[in-house]
Amino acid sequence: MKIIPMKVTSSFLLFFSIFIFFSDFSFSKVLSQDNKPSFIPMPDKIEWIKGEFLLSNNIYVSSSNADLEKYLISQTKSLTGIELKHATKTFSGKKIVLKTGKLKNGTNKEAYSLSVSEKQIEITGNTEEGVFRGIQTFFQLIPPLAKSENASASVAIPLCKISDSPAFSWRGLMLDCSRHFMTKDFIKRYIDILAYYKFNTLHWHLTDDQGFRIEIKKYPKLTQVGGFRKEADGTTYGGYYSQEDIKEIVSYAKSRFINIVPEIDMPGHSLAALASYPENSCTGGPFEVTNIWGVMKDIYCPGRDSTFTFVEGILDEIVNLFPGKYIHIGGDEAPKDRWKECPKCQARIKSEGLKDEHELQSYFVKRIASYLASKGKKVIGWDEVLQGGLAPGIFVQSWQSFQGAIDAAKQKHYVICSPASHTYLNGDPSDLDLRIAYSFQPIPRDLTKEEGKFVLGGEACLWTEQAPQETVDSKLFPRILALSEVFWKNPQNKDYDGFYSRLQKSYEDLSALGIKYGRESKIFTSSTAYDESKKEFSVSIQQGQKDIDIRYTLDGTEPKETSPRYESPIIINKTSSLKIAAFKKDHQLSKSNTLAFNFHKALNSHITLKTPYDERYRASGENGLIDGVRASVNAHDGLWQGFEGIDFEATIDLGKIEDISKVAPRFLLDENSWIFLPSKVEISVSTDNINFTDAKTIINDIPLKNSEILLKDFQADYNNVSARYIKVKATTIKKCPSWHPGFGSNAWMFIDEIVVE
Ligand code: ACM
Ligand code: ZN
Repeated sequence: MKIIPMKVTSSFLLFFSIFIFFSDFSFSKVLSQDNKPSFIPMPDKIEWIKGEFLLSNNIYVSSSNADLEKYLISQTKSLTGIELKHATKTFSGKKIVLKTGKLKNGTNKEAYSLSVSEKQIEITGNTEEGVFRGIQTFFQLIPPLAKSENASASVAIPLCKISDSPAFSWRGLMLDCSRHFMTKDFIKRYIDILAYYKFNTLHWHLTDDQGFRIEIKKYPKLTQVGGFRKEADGTTYGGYYSQEDIKEIVSYAKSRFINIVPEIDMPGHSLAALASYPENSCTGGPFEVTNIWGVMKDIYCPGRDSTFTFVEGILDEIVNLFPGKYIHIGGDEAPKDRWKECPKCQARIKSEGLKDEHELQSYFVKRIASYLASKGKKVIGWDEVLQGGLAPGIFVQSWQSFQGAIDAAKQKHYVICSPASHTYLNGDPSDLDLRIAYSFQPIPRDLTKEEGKFVLGGEACLWTEQAPQETVDSKLFPRILALSEVFWKNPQNKDYDGFYSRLQKSYEDLSALGIKYGRESKIFTSSTAYDESKKEFSVSIQQGQKDIDIRYTLDGTEPKETSPRYESPIIINKTSSLKIAAFKKDHQLSKSNTLAFNFHKALNSHITLKTPYDERYRASGENGLIDGVRASVNAHDGLWQGFEGIDFEATIDLGKIEDISKVAPRFLLDENSWIFLPSKVEISVSTDNINFTDAKTIINDIPLKNSEILLKDFQADYNNVSARYIKVKATTIKKCPSWHPGFGSNAWMFIDEIVVE
């Protein structure tokens, strides 16, 4: 499981040398009451007993199941370096016993009991799966410091009796490997991480508009073409899993009792497949695997029988590769634009007696679901599969809200509940924070007890438009731990304060496991005040997460764990960039934030806007464009002024005539947020606010189709022209361009500081 070995620090060595020294004595002080292990999820019942079991290379394993024994031995070695040994039948020394047998705490197949006495650790499950879950609790009993490959000493396990079983049978993570590809080893690492926190399902989103990531032998272009996209900068991005990779991962997951549910998204989110085989679309293409995010209008054409032959050909191979019961067929976000115009789709609506395109979507889903049912599979779709009527027996994954879960359960369909509001961990922790994740109740309140039984559980979801592999840990952790507990524990036994304090201790475990966790919530907010008399800014920072250090730099370098710690307001009296980052010990929790200050001639002068900004994007209000504080690439940083579908015009009054060498308004390009650069910016100057002269027009020269978020200064240079008034006009492109998912809707224009020098 460990990808990054923990550094052996001197304190680590000290810990173990003390340990070895005392190893023949009583250990009651080594793990005292306050450093009891901090479980996530918390087991149902724990009884602590005074004393310890010493785990070392001299401990043997006795198991009725050879695979579980092998797993326990190899995973203990990988976590701690300790080499457990196989116990023969007659072995009577200290050992770990794994066994199945009827438990007192119910018949749940994942229930287990774990007892630790001085002589023996015993893990019992109603089934082998239960034993496996119990083994994870045993791993969590091992102190974080022992979880290093370099450990070679004994480890004290506190004596206890635990009994435990899950509240929900579906405890998943949805991982989108289409928008960003993740390596085979990374997926295996995540399978181990999921197992450690008692998840049992990896919902693997393998296909989308931006990449088709699973080899299909019958249709090789799906990965040869569909597995790669051209990025805006001309580079190629991509990758896919060969069928051999898939078999290896499926077998790895099986040995860790993680069900893999492959998702092959249809009829929407299928542009990568259509770029490879455009004959399955309404228009016939051609298409490219897209490098922009959003919802694409070109989707499978259900008017053609050949489309069904194609999709079924894909699913035939999927069914063989994934032995689990479930196949996810997406069904989400399928715009009906092409179907409305397609004679074949319209003919299908007529011949099948369908009411409209929604019923055509339902026809598509029902036909595919029935095909998969004939192969013995259960089918899952996102909650849009409710539109136009549910296919018989289909499982519904509710994401838009709780409504899909309610509607499906009332129709006696099984439900996986993963509303974006509580489980989409690609969302910023400032909005979906740890407390909100922990407050999630998978069974909606509007369901009766009987209806609630149709809710199998939930999933944490990670869409990866903004999450390449190296950022996945920091997106998921620590919030996924809240969901681990939500899915495992009975809702009435949840306790946020208890969870929060266990989490604080678990950070050491995360570090020991090499998990590069991110934020719990918004980590800080800053406020800036300008003092005209002193000509300086004062920046105050308010911390939003406990037990962190806010560190900063003023020289443009990235903050490090040794940079100055924020203690009191920071004074800025010259043009400079303040970079701020949060640290937990020496671990940086997120990328730095930059606040750039510009002392220029228009700072704190007077500005008049011809048409007002949109109230949702107002920056600091009236003076937002001449307040000296520069916005970042984040459209939501509160420093941008936004204009929806309209031109911008402003006049700055400097208060007196000045020599001007440069006027540079800055604009944002973030097409994923429907924010575009102006087509041109015109700048002119005046001494009397009547006659404007020295007009300069700056034409935009940056392509709008650009997956990068960019800042552009539309700069006019002057040779020390004398002026008091400066007029800036920016011409919007008005509507989103034809290649854009928002085609025809209003385009936004975002402007920040108008720097005058
Ligand atoms: C989804 O978020 N489109 C399921
Ligand atoms: Zn069609």
